[in-house]
Amino acid sequence: MTDVRIGIIGGSGLYKMDALKDVREVEVDTPFGKPSDALIVGTLEGTPVAFLARHGRNHTLLPSELPFRANIYAMKSLGVEYLVSASAVGSLQAEAKPLDMVLPDQFIDRTRGRVSTFFGEGIVAHIAFGDPVCKNLAAVLGEAIASLDLPDVALHRGGTYVCMEGPAFSTRAESNLYRSWGATVIGMTNLPEAKLAREAEIAYATLALVTDYDCWHPDHDSVTVDMVISNLTKNAVNAQRVIQETVRRLAQNPPPSEAHHALKYAILTPLD
Ligand code: ADE
Repeated sequence: MTDVRIGIIGGSGLYKMDALKDVREVEVDTPFGKPSDALIVGTLEGTPVAFLARHGRNHTLLPSELPFRANIYAMKSLGVEYLVSASAVGSLQAEAKPLDMVLPDQFIDRTRGRVSTFFGEGIVAHIAFGDPVCKNLAAVLGEAIASLDLPDVALHRGGTYVCMEGPAFSTRAESNLYRSWGATVIGMTNLPEAKLAREAEIAYATLALVTDYDCWHPDHDSVTVDMVISNLTKNAVNAQRVIQETVRRLAQNPPPSEAHHALKYAILTPLD
């Protein structure tokens, strides 16, 4: 099966896509073990799509426990060329309010010891990662969001996503440090995905769903899981509409992506 060009990874609160039709579960075995869950393959208005619940459908995997390589490998093995990652994030800036959507174009890595490459063990490659998000895919997401006119949801195009290790949320000093770096949002998962997707020559973009103000904010309680989930539940309906509209636009007009040629000048080890 190599005909599913669009993949969706759903984070906390987004464990399924209600609008998917002709659904079947695909168990993919990879050289890196099993993905977080079976991939749910179906169609959105006739377009094949693969959906994966990042933390498992019952949310059983911590960010540090995620099989990132298996997840991206599984998407690639289905033929995925465009990967949209819908992810809960905390806000580091007053203007990005809970329930808003952010399309980050940069990442800062604060993870520790996560394996974020397919290379090594005899094959050396260094992908370019100066622009870690596919700008054309993010633009399609932005157009989709704008076209929907979602009530009470502001769209923020661009911004920096800090990827922390977790699972505990940040200390206030850390939160203020990230703000002093000019970062926009914080989450625990997207950077390894973005790196691996780039190595797999898959265009990747993050749809960051703001669930809370991180603990820097003086007028809001420190973030709790309750807060994250209650806002994400509200956001999940909007997120699904955005994804549906994005898929419709991608199917009509799949954009070119530099990610699709990421390995052209990246591999150092002679392969023949
Ligand atoms: N995911 C949702 N809110 C978060 C926060 N404040 N910090 C890290 N990850 C998050």
